[in-house]
Order: sequence, then structure tokens, then C-alpha cells
Amino acid sequence: MPLLLALGVFAYWAVPLADALMQRWFVRDLDVRSTSLASAVQEPLSSLVASGSTAKITAFLTRMTQDERLYAVGVCFDARAEPVATVNFPHEIKCAALDQYKAEDGYVLHSPHGPLHVAVRALDSESPPSQVVLVHDMSFVTRRNEETRRLFFYFFVALGLCIALITVIIAQLSWRGWVQGLRALLHGEGILRPSVESTAPELRPIARDLGDLIRDLERQYRPLDGSQRIWDQDALRATLRRELHGNDVIVVSNREPYLHVRTTNGIHLQHPASGLVTAIEPVMRACSGTWIAHGSGSADREVVDRHDRIAVPPDHPAYQVRRIWLSEEEEDGYYYGFANEGLWPLCHNAHVRPIFRSGDWEFYKSVNQKFADAVLVEAKTKDPVVLVQDYHFALLPRMIRERLPRATIITFWHIPWPNPEAFSICPWRTELLDGLLGSSILGFHTQFHCNNFLDTVDRLLEARVDRESFTISTRGHSTVVHRYPISIEWPPAALASVKRSVPDTRKAVRERLGLPPNHKLGVGIDRLDYTKGIIERFNAVCRLLETHPRWIGRFSFVQIAAPSRSAIADYRDYATRVTALASQINDRFPDARYPPIILVTEHHEAEAVYEYYRACDLCFVSSLHDGMNLVAKEFVASRDDEQGVLVLSQFAGASRELPEALVVNPYDADQCARALHVALTMDAAEQRERMRFMRGVVREFNVYRWAGRMLLDAAVMRQRDRFRLAEKTAASR
Ligand code: F6P
Repeated sequence: MPLLLALGVFAYWAVPLADALMQRWFVRDLDVRSTSLASAVQEPLSSLVASGSTAKITAFLTRMTQDERLYAVGVCFDARAEPVATVNFPHEIKCAALDQYKAEDGYVLHSPHGPLHVAVRALDSESPPSQVVLVHDMSFVTRRNEETRRLFFYFFVALGLCIALITVIIAQLSWRGWVQGLRALLHGEGILRPSVESTAPELRPIARDLGDLIRDLERQYRPLDGSQRIWDQDALRATLRRELHGNDVIVVSNREPYLHVRTTNGIHLQHPASGLVTAIEPVMRACSGTWIAHGSGSADREVVDRHDRIAVPPDHPAYQVRRIWLSEEEEDGYYYGFANEGLWPLCHNAHVRPIFRSGDWEFYKSVNQKFADAVLVEAKTKDPVVLVQDYHFALLPRMIRERLPRATIITFWHIPWPNPEAFSICPWRTELLDGLLGSSILGFHTQFHCNNFLDTVDRLLEARVDRESFTISTRGHSTVVHRYPISIEWPPAALASVKRSVPDTRKAVRERLGLPPNHKLGVGIDRLDYTKGIIERFNAVCRLLETHPRWIGRFSFVQIAAPSRSAIADYRDYATRVTALASQINDRFPDARYPPIILVTEHHEAEAVYEYYRACDLCFVSSLHDGMNLVAKEFVASRDDEQGVLVLSQFAGASRELPEALVVNPYDADQCARALHVALTMDAAEQRERMRFMRGVVREFNVYRWAGRMLLDAAVMRQRDRFRLAEKTAASR
């Protein structure tokens, strides 16, 4: 198209130019012709003029005009008289004004007949002095001009087509070159092999960019631990089948994955707000088996079979939940008392004092025994794989070991492990340690907690602690202590049920909260627990508004706080303080059009939580102490738009894996306020870069990998145990 336009413009200027040029040539030709005609008729015409016979002159002139180009001829021998001429001699040409036709470059007369070339030549007659006027018809010039114009037109069209064709061919050839170059590049030539020299110079910049892009993608998708394995549900299932011969897995935890709750509308299914459940549930869906847990839903008893089992998930049953019933006293003593008023504050540096009551300890022991009995019932073989979860069951591994010595017991401690001094304040410290050392494998989120555990055993127990293999041996049995950072499933199931795009979700959530469309939004999702640093988080928001008043009325922080362990005074007190602080901060900024803090203290199902993750500009995890914190990972997983900023406490285990977050000390309100401001002003490119890195980590270090690595380690152990048993049997023969 541009080519045709250029040619059109060129033709527009060229054609009139050519016309003028041709005209000039023809005029010059006719001038020469007139001169030679005049000299040819010189003699006869001069004699006729001398004879004075007008009739003869006219007859002679008429004969001359038989030449088709010569239109008319006239002779002037008296300036005052009319010329003696042929009939069609133009009457505008007067003998008195012949000088005007003597222009050097010829004269063209535009007559009604058309353009006429007029030439005046002197005759050599003595007397009277005469001049002959030769008038040539120039209409043939116009005809030729038209013909030339037509030819020009065809010429330009042909030229345009030729140029276009040549351009297309050249473009094709060079495109092929490009494609070949790029193909070579994508095949690794030029990146893995030093073929850059052979790359066309014009390809080099794009080769560099593509190389960067490929390396970036490789980094994102390559397993970060070099294992060449990306863990997913199928990989986990296959590992279980191959390495553990399809043995059923038994999980034991206090919290169950599905609660049946009685409501006025009938029985309602609820998913608890629990990191443990978030992590283990997809593993169980992949592995099948049985999950033994406390049946704490108000309608739980109504839906189980006569063995207290129910197949879940309700829509696609994949495994069994075996519910254990606890009396109110048992729950008070074991769960609220020993586990949550004793061990929980003991293991978390949140400056809440642990309370240890002997009555609670008795319930802790008996409930652990109750669960151990259930494991025995559910085990189909003498060497089951039992996954014991968390601080509610410190005694359980030893209890199972005593009854099923060949069981593979993998215990995972989901909360931090304190240093020996802190742990030693527990009156039943040695019993707890001994209970845990019934495990085959004892897992923590971080190496720091593994180290703390080894130090604690070293300090408090008679046991052999091998710091090279991180193995503890006592009572003729060894426990391997290992770091397995827990994670979430990838992609998260809750994300699949999210119907709306991120922009639509942003809009919908802001509408629901009564906020304008471009209002900046921060989000926090937690159980109402004093370890989560919700008070510190609110203080940071307040500090942000004090130090950067531009955010007043333009930024709100939504805190979704699920009520938790409300039977405990410390938790009730904390909930009251959080609520009071939220309104205190909102009152402090009375001019803000929109409240700085929006506190919603109710349980939200995963889909609703994911909506908040996707609607916000930043997610703030400010735990004072946290084993891992899966909210941080869920937020990252939810942001498939690669936008949003994570502000993350340095005291959450997740900060070891996600250093691309804005890592803060939640006790430092000024630092947190600065981080919030940075998050709110971070450009999209930086958000994308940070989010991409974090998503790569969460994608690869997902919960299937977490479970898979533990099961693989367990498989190796079982194999070694078998060899050892065979050795013993052989030796005793
Ligand atoms: O962090 C320990 C933990 O068991 C988590 O796995 C979970 O998020 C939380 O405590 C659940 O608490 P509870 O079961 O007491 O509601």
C-alpha cells in the first residue's frame, strides 16, 4: 500500500512534466519543419508574390496544405492588409502583428480548433518584402500526450507490481532466515552451543532477548532442587505404589478435614480454617487411606457409618475419615488445656505464658492413647505407614511403636520447636521427647527447628544424637530428624472454582465493601490467634497513614479473622483487643471517606478467601512466630495475574522460601509502614518479577513434594530395616 501511494504521488508529478517536455520537443520539431518548408517554397512563392496574383498565390498555398500536418498557410506582403491565405487560416493572425509569433522557442496558438503551431518566415522577394505564415495542426501532440499518459499509467502499474513482488520475495527469504535463526535458537543452538558467531548480525539482539526469556522460563519450570521431578497428585500416587507397594496411609490429626455442622437449614459441610488441613487434604486425595481425627462438628455423629467412618470428599470419595469422639472434659483437658494453653505458647515466641496443669496432662495422655487404639483398628497390616500430625500427638508415636514395632511412623511438627531452655519449662518434657522419638522420621519446617530439637534431646534425654545424619537413637530405635517445608497443592483446588477474572474480582469485592473501584486494598487472612500479629499489623497500617497521609481514605486493610479456640481466655482477650484496636484506628482518622481497617470476624470458605487474595493490592502476613504460614503461599498461588505484593514476617517459616516478598519485622511498626508504602507504590513490572519467582517456588515446592519426599525417605528406611532383619535372622540360625 505505501508503495502504491508513493508511485501514485510520483506519477501525479511526473505525467504533467512529461507532457510539457513532449510539447516542447514537438514545438521545436515544427519550428524546424516550418523553416525547411519555407525554404522549399521560397523560390516559387517569391515569384508568385512578385507576380502579384492573389489567386495564384492562394492556389499554391492550398496545394501546400495537402500535407496533413500543415493546417493553414498565409502570406503577408502588406502590413495593413489581410494575409493572402488558405481558407482555414486563423483569422486571429493579422499581418500587422506578426512579431508576436516570432518567439525563439516557437509559438502555440490556442484556437477553437485546438492548439496550432504558428511560424513566421521571411520570403526573399525583393518587392514587396513578404513573410510566409505556416500554421501546423498540433492536435496530434495532444493525442500522443494522451497515449503517453496511458503508457505511463501501465508502466507505473507494472513497475509497482514488480517492486511489490521483489519486496515480497526478499521479505520471504529474509523471514525464512529469521525463522531458521530463531528455530536454531529455540533448539538451544546459540545458547548451549556458541553459535552466536553464525547468527546473522541483525538477529543477535533478538537472540539475546530470546535467550534471556528461555533461561527465565527454564528457571521457572525447572525443578529447583535438580531432582528432575515435578511433584503432583499422580507422581505422589505412583511413588506410594512403587516405593511403598501401595500400602495404605493412615493420617492422624486433631482437626478433621470436613466438619458436618447442624444449621437451621439442615446439615452443612464446613472446611476448617487450618493450615494443616489445607496441606494434608490434597495428599490424602492422592494417596487414599484413612484419616483419623476428632469429630468436632455438631452433626458429625449423624453422618458416619457404624465404624464411625465416612468417605470423603462427599462428591468424589477418595479416602475415609475415621472420627474419634471426645467428651467435653477430654477436649478441655487435651485440646484446649495441654495442647493450646501449654504446648502452643511454649513453642511460639509470642510472649504468652504457657499453662501446664496435671489434669490436662492426664487427658493429653489418655486422648493420645485413644487415637493410638484407633490406629491399631484402622491398620490393615503390621507395618502401616502412619503420618502423625502436630503437637496434639507428641505421645502417639511411642504408643504406636509399642504396639506396631514395624510401623513406619512419620511425625510432622507443624509449629516451631523452641530452644532447650524454653522447652525445659514443661514439667513433662522428657515424656514428650520420648513420645516423639517413637517416630521413624520427625519433620519440621525449618533447619533451625530441627537443630533446636536435637539440642533439646541432647540436653534433656539419655540418647545418642548423631549430628551428621541428624539421627537420634534411644531404646534400640532410631529417629531421623529432617526438614520438610510444608506447602499447598498446586494448582490450588479453590482456584479452579474461582469464576471471575482478577479485574472482575477486584470490582466485585470493592463493591461489596462499599469502596470505590480504584481504592487500594490490603488483606490479612488468619485465625484469631495471638501468634498471627494482627495487632502489630493494625499498628503498621495506622503508622502508614500517619507517615503517608496521602493514603488516608485511599487505602483500606481488610482483616478476615476466623474465630479460633474461643474457649481459652487468652484467645477471647485477644479477639477483644483486636476489635477494639480496629475501631480505635478508624476513629483516629475521622476524615477518611473510607475506613482504614475493615475487620470481618467470621469463618470464610476457601473460595471466598481466594476472592480476597485476588482482589487486593497487597497481602500482609505479620506472624510473630509461625512454623510456615500457608496464607503467604495461598496468596502467591492465587495470583495467576502475577500482580500483588506480599508483605511477610521474617518470623514465619515461609520467609525462608519467599525472600522476594517484602520481608519485615512485625514488631517494627515503622519498618512495616514503609513496606506497606513500597507495596502500594510498586510498579507492575516489579510486582510481576517478584510474583513470578515466588510462584515458581510454590509451584515446585508444593505439598505433593512435601509428602512425596517424606514417603521416599520412609521407603528407604523400610528397605534398610528389612535388610537388618534379614541379617539378624541369618545370624541367629
Ligand atoms: O499451626 C498449627 C495448626 O495445627 C495449624 O496446622 C492450623 O492452622 C492450626 O494450628 C489449627 O488450629 P486448630 O486446629 O486448633 O483450629
